[in-house]
Amino acid sequence: MPSSTLTRTRLATVLVAVAALVPALVAVSPARAADGGRPGISKKHFGTLAGGRKIDVYTLRNASGMRVKILTYGGILQSIEVPDSEGKRANVTLGFDNLSDYVKKSPYFGCITGRYANRIAKGRFTLDGKTYRLATNDGPNHLHGGTKGFDKRVWKADPFTRGGSVGLALTYTSPDGEEGYPGTLRTRVVYTLTGDNRIRMDYRATTSRPTVVNLTNHAYFNLRGEGNGRILGHELQINASRYTPVDKTLIPTGKIARLGGTPLDFREPTAIGDRVNSKNQQIVRGGGYDHNYVLDGRGLRTAATVVEPDSGRVLEVITDQPGLQFYSGNFLDGTLRGTGGRLYPKRSGFALESQHFPDSPNHANFPSTVLRPGDVYRTTTIYAFSTVS
Ligand code: GLA
Repeated sequence: MPSSTLTRTRLATVLVAVAALVPALVAVSPARAADGGRPGISKKHFGTLAGGRKIDVYTLRNASGMRVKILTYGGILQSIEVPDSEGKRANVTLGFDNLSDYVKKSPYFGCITGRYANRIAKGRFTLDGKTYRLATNDGPNHLHGGTKGFDKRVWKADPFTRGGSVGLALTYTSPDGEEGYPGTLRTRVVYTLTGDNRIRMDYRATTSRPTVVNLTNHAYFNLRGEGNGRILGHELQINASRYTPVDKTLIPTGKIARLGGTPLDFREPTAIGDRVNSKNQQIVRGGGYDHNYVLDGRGLRTAATVVEPDSGRVLEVITDQPGLQFYSGNFLDGTLRGTGGRLYPKRSGFALESQHFPDSPNHANFPSTVLRPGDVYRTTTIYAFSTVS
C-alpha cells in the first residue's frame, strides 16, 4: 500500500536523532528541523503581461514538507514538490520558470482548462435549438476552451488557512459570448493543500444563460521529477473498463467500447511504455495514449493510481467525474525548456484529466455538460501523493 505515513515516520525518527545530537538546531530553526514546519502560504511577483497586468505566484506549504506553487495566470500549478521514499523532494509537474513561456508556448501545463476541456467537433454545438460557433484551434476542432481559454485568463486569488490545510480560492467571471460560449460564467476553483499531501481542487460555476461547461486541471506529471527523463517506466492503473474510441481528429465516434483485450486497458497496473507504440488503430490515431476513459463507479472515487518504481513516488487521482483523459505527452518534442532548465523530450510527462467526455454537446448518449441558470456546476478532483518503498 502506498504510504506517506511510513516516510513521515522514518523522517521523524531521523529528525529526533538529529535533534538529540544538535539541540541548538531545533531551537534556532524549528521550521526547518521539522522539514515542512507549519503550514503556510506566501505570495511573490512572477511576471508582467504585455498589457501591464501583474501576475503573482503563491507558494503553499504543509507540515510534511510538500510545497505547491500556483500562478494567478491560468490558475496554473507551476510546481509541486513532493518527497520520494527517502524523503528527498522533487518538483513532479512540468512547467516553466517564467511567465513569457507560459503565454507563448505552454501546451496547457498545469492550467485550469475551460470553458470546455478537451475537444468539441468542428467548433460547433447546438443548445435549445440555437447553434453556437467556437474557435477551431486544433485542426478542424475546438480544444480546451479556444484561442484564449481559462488557461490564459488572470484569476483573482484569495489565500486561506484552515486547520492543517492551506489553500487558494481563484475566481474568474467569463463574460457572455467569450470564446463563442453563451452565458456569463462565474467560476471559482479552490485549491487546497492538505496535511496528508493532497491537492484538492473544488470547482464551482454558475451561468446567466444555458451553456456547456467542462472544467479540469491539465497538470503533466513526471514522478521522477520534471526534466528527469521519460515517463515510460511509470506503472499506471485506471479504474475503467470502457472508453470512448476516437476518429482520426481525436473526436469520439460516439461509441462506448470495452477496453478488455486492447492495449488501452489499464485495469491491471502496467508500465506506460509497455504498449505505447502498439499498432492498435486507436493508439496510432492518438500518437500514443490520448483517450477518454469511462470511469467505473460513481461519486468521489479513485480513478487512477501511478507508481514510479525508482523514486517510490505514488500519485492517485480521485474524482467525482465520469471520465478521465489519459494523455501520454505525445506532442512534447524536446523543444520546450522546463522549470529546472532541462528540455522536455517526447513522453517526458503524462496528464490525467478528470472530465466529462470530449464532444459531449454533440453526443446525446454521453453524460450532459449543459448548465442552466439557477443550477450550480460543482466538481472535485484530488491529486493524492504518497510513497512506496
Ligand atoms: C489534451 C489533448 C491532447 C493535447 C493536450 C495538450 O490532453 O487530449 O491531444 O492537445 O491536451 O497538448
